[in-house]
Amino acid sequence: MAILVTGGAGYIGSHTVIELVKKGYEVVIVDDYSNAKPEVLNRLKELTGKDVPFHEVNICHKEALREVFEQHDLDAVIHFAGYKAVGESVAQPLKYYSNNLNGTIVLMELMNEYNVKKIVFSSSATVYGMTNEAPFTEDMPLSTTNPYGTTKMFIEQFIQDQYVADNAWSAALLRYFNPIGAHESGRIGEDPNDIPNNLMPYITQVAVGKREKLSVFGSDYETHDGTGVRDYIHVLDLAKGHIKALEKVLASTGVEAYNLGTGKGYSVLDVVHAFETANNVEIPYELNDRRPGDIATSYADVSKAKNALGWEATYSVEDMCRDSWNWQKSNPNGYDD
Ligand code: WQD
Repeated sequence: MAILVTGGAGYIGSHTVIELVKKGYEVVIVDDYSNAKPEVLNRLKELTGKDVPFHEVNICHKEALREVFEQHDLDAVIHFAGYKAVGESVAQPLKYYSNNLNGTIVLMELMNEYNVKKIVFSSSATVYGMTNEAPFTEDMPLSTTNPYGTTKMFIEQFIQDQYVADNAWSAALLRYFNPIGAHESGRIGEDPNDIPNNLMPYITQVAVGKREKLSVFGSDYETHDGTGVRDYIHVLDLAKGHIKALEKVLASTGVEAYNLGTGKGYSVLDVVHAFETANNVEIPYELNDRRPGDIATSYADVSKAKNALGWEATYSVEDMCRDSWNWQKSNPNGYDD
């Protein structure tokens, strides 16, 4: 039962690898280190006690990826690999379309050739766009506001179309809301390149003294305190959701989308205050203009994943703040420490 994890050295990928090993799966990681560091593999060995087979491969390179399919008897793929910075995707759409879409096509071609027709795909709540009202349900119409989100929507379509062409395929399209937090050991966590785009890594870098203060993007949204509301989910809950989805695709065929969130929305200031209370640190901030492309409110209806996968999130926003800080204060420079 070897599971190929593309992007397995990344933030969500590495946390999922730990859960897979804990559940007794054989794991193979491919990663090109475009948004990850080799040190992650050392930390995975420390935390799992295993040398997880690793191949430094960009999945666009078909012959290199073929080697992985040749060397390992794969049963399924968990597909994380892809660029993920919303702002960068607006500035460099072709880089995103080329890498995320071509990479997935190459991966799926090889899956077909080697009769590996089970996939768990890392999608995103961003596919719900700006026209739906939260809580979002999986049957809502999809739309996107940036090329990163468009690649997620297109890949969902690739997988749906492949199943129509060949009913032997089985897929779970996991629409993440806002993953934050870190493994309780503080040995793996989120380590963004350059200036963090996302809220929590920015907060933890303020807390550790790398950034002066948090810029709150917008204070005039129609929310309880004017700042953006999101459904934050602990990365460990997310990892466990991938295991449940994998079990489902291994045991069935067909394609289903699932929201992976908590079903609760917290504003930016709610998170700042939760972080300050959980960790007894102060987070200086200033209220600024909205960030283009942001929506006011996003949170999940989580009933489908609960009913169909037997999964629901268990960690609180305080747990998420505590674990994010535990990672950052133990690794002020991320994996460069
Ligand atoms: C959360 C809230 C911001 C930074 C995106 C992608 C999604 C997923 C997670 C990709 C918003 C506010 C943020 C800051 C702020 N995957 N904010 N100051 O935009 O909801 O989702 O990232 O990584 O697919 O769409 O997440 O963390 O960027 O923002 O005020 O410095 O925090 O306005 O309200 P987002 P985010």
